[in-house]
Amino acid sequence: MQLFEKAGHIIYNGDAKEVLLNKIDDNSIDLIFVDPPYNIGKNFNGRKDKWATDKKYLDWSYSWIDLLIKKLKTNGSLYIMTSTQFMPFFDTYIQKKIEIISRIVWYYDSSGVQAKNYYGSMYEPILFCVKNKNNYTFNSEDILVEAKTGSKRKLIDYRKNPPQQYNTEKVPGNVWEFPRVRYRMPEYENHPTQKPIALLERIIKASSNVGDVVLDPFSGTFTTSYVAKILNRKSIGIEIDEEYVKIGLRRLSLVEKYNGEKLEKEIRTFETKRRIEQQTLTLFEPDGTQLYKTNKASISK
Ligand SMILES: C[S@@+](CC[C@H](N)C(=O)[O-])C[C@H]1O[C@@H](n2cnc3c(N)ncnc32)[C@H](O)[C@@H]1O
Repeated sequence: MQLFEKAGHIIYNGDAKEVLLNKIDDNSIDLIFVDPPYNIGKNFNGRKDKWATDKKYLDWSYSWIDLLIKKLKTNGSLYIMTSTQFMPFFDTYIQKKIEIISRIVWYYDSSGVQAKNYYGSMYEPILFCVKNKNNYTFNSEDILVEAKTGSKRKLIDYRKNPPQQYNTEKVPGNVWEFPRVRYRMPEYENHPTQKPIALLERIIKASSNVGDVVLDPFSGTFTTSYVAKILNRKSIGIEIDEEYVKIGLRRLSLVEKYNGEKLEKEIRTFETKRRIEQQTLTLFEPDGTQLYKTNKASISK
């Protein structure tokens, strides 16, 4: 296991359970986002995402779920993902241990044909859980979205006295539409299941405050830590694969070189090095004010 740390951001290159058991204090984490292997046969840089039996996958998952619940503060929140076929098992297990507040559907469009003989999979489920349903962070004002009835159609509610225009903003419901990370998007990294910045931005803004500690035990490209840093939270990211850890070290600007190798973003087939230099990523507040801008696909504040 290897540790990298700078200015409130920690990356562990190691096994999630081992790090959770030995390095993370109980009751110390404000927000956990978990996007584990889904047991559907993806290829994580040679490490196969498929267990010998479904029972083995579930038993392994239950063991880290138990650890994560221990690590969460009493007022903390846990967002947990898995494949549609395994989520009912996760749900049944977790609802006996902590409170499931929302069952979220992350929906995305796809122009490709997903399936011809059945309904192709166009969503991924997310459970939003808390330890104490009477005491948890939820910054609803920070994640408001457009309410189309009021903002676009400008309808008036005549049942009110006096009549009032419908709200133009609302707290998002439990169906979230964000595009998946595609090859040509500026945020793309070389990983098969990278999650979008926008998805993590909503979760981290809603369920943590500035200075809070955000943990992701299966970090992949470290999207969680990357967004946590932009939003002035602290982060702990764990990832078993060294190549993915290198992506995290670069995205978080924790080190410039790794074993003598300069960490640089992989150049995609359609771009030149000069174009990478010019790329920018921008995060906006719900009211449209610009929160943050990065260049060279890394954070330089
Ligand atoms: C679904 S991906 C996470 C993607 C991530 N949310 C992102 O935005 O890039 C799951 C990750 O878990 C890693 N992983 C698999 N087994 C692990 C283990 N035992 N401990 C830590 N990481 C592991 C894989 O290498 C993979 O990168």
